Amino acid sequence: MLAFRLVAEPERLDTLVLPTRPDDRTDDGDADAPAALLATLGWEPAEEVGAEARALLPVARLHGRAGEARMHLRPLGSPGRLLLIGTGDGDEAAWRTAGAALARAASAEEHVTVVMPADATDLAVRGLVEGLLLASYRFRLTEAGDSPALSGVDVVVADPAAHSRSLDVARITAESTRFARDLTNTPSSTKNPQWFAEQVAAEVADRPGLTVRVREPEELAAEGFGGLLAVGGGSASGPRLVELSWQPAQATTHVVLVGKGITFDTGGISIKPVPAMKLMRKDMAGGAAVAAATLGAAALDLPVRITTLIPLAENMLSGGAFRPGDVVRHYGGLTSETTNSDAEGRLVLADALAYAVAELAPDLLVDLATLTGANSVALGNRTAALYSENDDLAGALLTAVSEAGESAWRMPLPADYVEYLGSDLADLYSAPAQGGGSVTAALFLREFTGDLRDRWVHVDMSAPSWAAAADAELTKGATGWGVRGLLRWLATLD
Ligand code: BES
Ligand code: MN
Ligand code: ZN
Repeated sequence: MLAFRLVAEPERLDTLVLPTRPDDRTDDGDADAPAALLATLGWEPAEEVGAEARALLPVARLHGRAGEARMHLRPLGSPGRLLLIGTGDGDEAAWRTAGAALARAASAEEHVTVVMPADATDLAVRGLVEGLLLASYRFRLTEAGDSPALSGVDVVVADPAAHSRSLDVARITAESTRFARDLTNTPSSTKNPQWFAEQVAAEVADRPGLTVRVREPEELAAEGFGGLLAVGGGSASGPRLVELSWQPAQATTHVVLVGKGITFDTGGISIKPVPAMKLMRKDMAGGAAVAAATLGAAALDLPVRITTLIPLAENMLSGGAFRPGDVVRHYGGLTSETTNSDAEGRLVLADALAYAVAELAPDLLVDLATLTGANSVALGNRTAALYSENDDLAGALLTAVSEAGESAWRMPLPADYVEYLGSDLADLYSAPAQGGGSVTAALFLREFTGDLRDRWVHVDMSAPSWAAAADAELTKGATGWGVRGLLRWLATLD
């Protein structure tokens, strides 16, 4: 992995990265940034390089906007390359975008030295490092192809020790996101429920405070996880329930995270058409995000207790598959009539939510799921749909998600639609005929939240879990959506 060092002065003269702001070009004459930046360093080539960098801005047609990056070659000079990057208004998001642009512009470099402005905050360092790491991600199966050469980054700051926690937080956040992206990108020929559970268990290893329990089909049957067993019934690879827990000594708040873990979604007997099925290996992205965020919280030593539940199943067709019209008995006894076997996610989540409420009695309950195609119909392909009855809790999560550089929008839980859930055969229809996609799915889940009803958040993140093309810190494919936002939010709890 890309190695970062915080240093007080440039130590290597290969590629020097100079941040520029939109106002750098309009200032006239004197030693403005980036020249001023270099002048603050007691570094020998500073004056010459600074003057050149300043003269370069108009010639290179740079505006200092976040996302701009231009390499300037100095064949006879030392350093031999100057890379000018725009940092926009200098907030964390701009630095994250700048870091991502830097990763792409410097992908052929082996090492770069980034000179930060004298007033660079912790958030600037964090944004730069996260952007760089997230945009440098490559899925391991294809790594041989176009892996970036960049292996070392020196970040020049006035007081290196002051930013070391910020650097650690950025590294752990990016590393957690990498774990979620890797799981989600993995083909379903490898990724069955058992494999997914093993990947999580392997990360737990002997980290004090972290434990994992994986329930096998026999145990799920004995305890009444009927939704998970119904959905997993059609597959040769049986379902599993991962229960991951982070229990630090001082914690006062207990959060349960639940993530949908469908390792492939064919739609089952209500089979999906070809284009809709193509990417259904990503249907465990919610489970990957909550697992990764929990491991990240442990790595950051966050003082909050977390229990993470990932119901894992493959939604297949076979003689063992569940059928439309079947009645499923969920954990705790509520029943649902299957209207469409493609509405499988809510069935496995229902079991996990009911189990969390009955057996874990947490303070807060949050689930993430690639639950409906309607998410992108309503909100496009970058924004998750967030549901909660609790304004404070919803607000805190929305803030964390947006500060982390992810996007979510609050959606309603309309009282008028609740009656659509009424079934003649069971307590609930799994997917009401009146539609309402993402909204009615949320209403279905709410029925399983019991006492936690107003301390629960549901996030339908079908849309932003995947990127059709690379964009800023996102790489093509799995985005790891939710890992960054959850980690930010968990860091506000104790
Ligand atoms: N996994 C899908 C939702 C999905 C669709 C995720 C597109 C990512 C991209 C989910 O299991 C599903 O099939 N939902 C159905 C529900 C319907 C049958 C009520 C849907 O949204 O069409
Ligand atoms: Mn489905
Ligand atoms: Zn699904």
